[in-house]
Amino acid sequence: MHPDVSEILLTKEEIAQRVDALGRQISENYRDKDLLVVGVLNGAAIFLSDLVRAIDFPCQLDFVGASSYGDTAESGTLTMTKAPSVSPKGKSVLLVEDILDTGRTLQRLVDYYRELGAEDVRICVMLDKPEAHRVPIQAEYVGAEVGDAFIVGYGLDYAQRYRNLPYIGILKPEIYA
Ligand code: XMP
Ligand code: MG
Repeated sequence: MHPDVSEILLTKEEIAQRVDALGRQISENYRDKDLLVVGVLNGAAIFLSDLVRAIDFPCQLDFVGASSYGDTAESGTLTMTKAPSVSPKGKSVLLVEDILDTGRTLQRLVDYYRELGAEDVRICVMLDKPEAHRVPIQAEYVGAEVGDAFIVGYGLDYAQRYRNLPYIGILKPEIYA
């Protein structure tokens, strides 16, 4: 375990099991649909690359870059750092993110994809922090629920570091304090 991490929440093996289970669920639910899987950069890149290989039929793949600013409940604006490359018009869109925290980023992306003409927009996250939601939002597919700590690994970063840790763990508070 890296010395900056206080506790491992999910090992590499546990992550693989959860991702396989999500892939099976998604395969069943979208088999007859035109599925476009959209990863939110940068955090979802690692999760998404494992997830799509656990889906057993050909789907489309895209990435968007997004970051939310603003701390008040309604005023956060979505800044797009990479626009979609694949049109979601008429498709079933599955937004994939590393973690659902306040929910503001994903809420705005759901609205955005609906405006672009997606037929259906749902959310898949590796981690969900249910206590931290600040907007009414629900992910249909969740790898694991976690408490309100700062999480790193498997795509999740602090200041762009730790994303490549193969496990998911809690970052020691003295690292970001
Ligand atoms: P919300 O849901 O608040 O999430 O719009 C905004 C972005 O913040 C990131 N995030 C985290 N990253 N550890 C991380 O490394 C965390 O505990 C954590 N919580 C939120 C996440 O990437 C999301 O896109
Ligand atoms: Mg992110």
